[in-house]
Amino acid sequence: MSDVARVVVGREDIRRRIEELGRTITGDYEGRAPVLISVLKGGSVFLADLIREIALPVAIDYMSISRYGGAAESMGRVQIVKDLDQDIGGRDVIVVEDIVDTGLTLSYLITVLESRGPASVRICTLLDKSARRIAPLELRYVGFECPDVFVVGYGLDFQERYRNLPDILAIEDLGALTADPDLLLPFLSGAGPAPTGGETAVGSA
Ligand code: IMP
Ligand code: MG
Repeated sequence: MSDVARVVVGREDIRRRIEELGRTITGDYEGRAPVLISVLKGGSVFLADLIREIALPVAIDYMSISRYGGAAESMGRVQIVKDLDQDIGGRDVIVVEDIVDTGLTLSYLITVLESRGPASVRICTLLDKSARRIAPLELRYVGFECPDVFVVGYGLDFQERYRNLPDILAIEDLGALTADPDLLLPFLSGAGPAPTGGETAVGSA
C-alpha cells in the first residue's frame, strides 16, 4: 500500500493477544483487586482494551510524566506532571505500557512506585523493543516482540499524531513522513480496505 509504512501488528492480532493477556492476568490475580496504572498518553488505548478482558474488580489510574531531554540523556529521570489519584500502599500494581524501548523511563517509574509500599508491582507492555533495552526490567506480561524500528498506531504517536490508527505500523521512511506528516492518513480506519458492493462511504451520496 505504501513505502512509508507497513503494518507490523494488525488489529485482529492485537485484539486476540489482549484477550489472552486478560485471561492470564485474571488467573494470576484471582481473589485480588489490582490497580492498573497507565502512563499517559501512549498506554491509554491498550489499557482501555485490556481492562475489558480482565474479570476482576480492577481499579485504574494514570500518571503523566515529562522527560528532562531524551530518555538516555536523563537516564530515565522524569518529572511527574500528573500523579496518581489513589494511594497504592498495600495494593497490587500493574503498570500498563504501550512499548518498552530503552526501559529507562519505566525503571525510574518503578522505583518511584515501589517507594510507596505496594504489595507488588508488575509490568504489562503491549510491545517489547528488547533490542534497545538499556535498563534491565522484568516484563511480566508482553503482547508482542517489536522490531527495532519506529512504530506508530494503537496509542503510539508520531509527533502526537496517529495514536488512533487501529493497527501498529512500522515506519520504513521516517524522512518522508517528517517531510509530509499526512502520509499515513490512508491507514486510518475509515480509509481502510475499500468498501465493496453497494456500501455507501461517509459523505458520498
Ligand atoms: P524508554 O523505554 O524509556 O526508552 O521510553 C519508552 C517510551 O518512548 C514509550 O513509552 C513511548 O512513549 C516512546 N517510544 C519508544 N519507542 C517508540 C516508537 O517506536 N514509537 C513511538 N513511541 C516510542
Ligand atoms: Mg509511553
